[in-house]
Amino acid sequence: MAIAVYPGSFDPVTCGHLDIIERASRMFDLVIVAVLRNPSKKPLFTVEERVDMLQSAVCHLSNVRVDHFGGLLVDYARRQGATAIIKGLRAVSDFEYEFQMASVNRKLDPTIETLFMMTSNEYAFLSSSVVKEVASLGGCIQGLVPGEVEKRLRGKFRETGGNKFGQDKGN
Ligand code: PNS
Repeated sequence: MAIAVYPGSFDPVTCGHLDIIERASRMFDLVIVAVLRNPSKKPLFTVEERVDMLQSAVCHLSNVRVDHFGGLLVDYARRQGATAIIKGLRAVSDFEYEFQMASVNRKLDPTIETLFMMTSNEYAFLSSSVVKEVASLGGCIQGLVPGEVEKRLRGKFRETGGNKFGQDKGN
C-alpha cells in the first residue's frame, strides 16, 4: 500500500491545501494530512480546531486521514508506514526553504522521498496568513477556504475584534 504524509501547520487549511490533498489522493492509496504540534508557534487555531476543519474539508475523500504529530516529520512518516512526504510549491520563493527541508529529511531518512506538487495557478497567491489577514480586516474570503473554515474565521475575528493573527511563516 502506497502511503504519503502531507504535513503542515494548516492554520487554517485553504483551498490551495485542499487542491494538493485531492490531487495527491489520486496518486496514493492513503494520504495522511498531518498537522504539526509546535509549541513554539502561536497559531490562530488550536491543533484540535485545525484537525476538525481539515476533517470536514476532506470528508468526501475516502483515502485521506487527518492526524497531528510532534517531533521529527520523518520519524512520524516512518511510524505511519509512509514512503513519501508531499509538499506543495506555489512559487519560486517557496523553493529554497522547501529544498532545505527536503534535503535535511533525506539525510535523516533516505527511504522517505519528498514529492513536490505545483499548486494550481488559481491558488498560487494563496496562503493561510493572507487569508487570516483578509478575514481579520473584514474582507471576503469566499472561495479561498472551505466553507467551514470561512465560518470559523469569521467567528474567531468576531471574538477577538479582528486583530488576533497567530504567528507563522506564511503557509
Ligand atoms: O505549513 P508549514 O508551517 O510550512 O509546515 C512545516 C512543517 C510542518 C512541514 C515542518 O515544520 C516540519 O516538518 N516540522 C517537523 C520537524 C522536522 O521534522 N524538522 C526537520 C526538517 S527541517
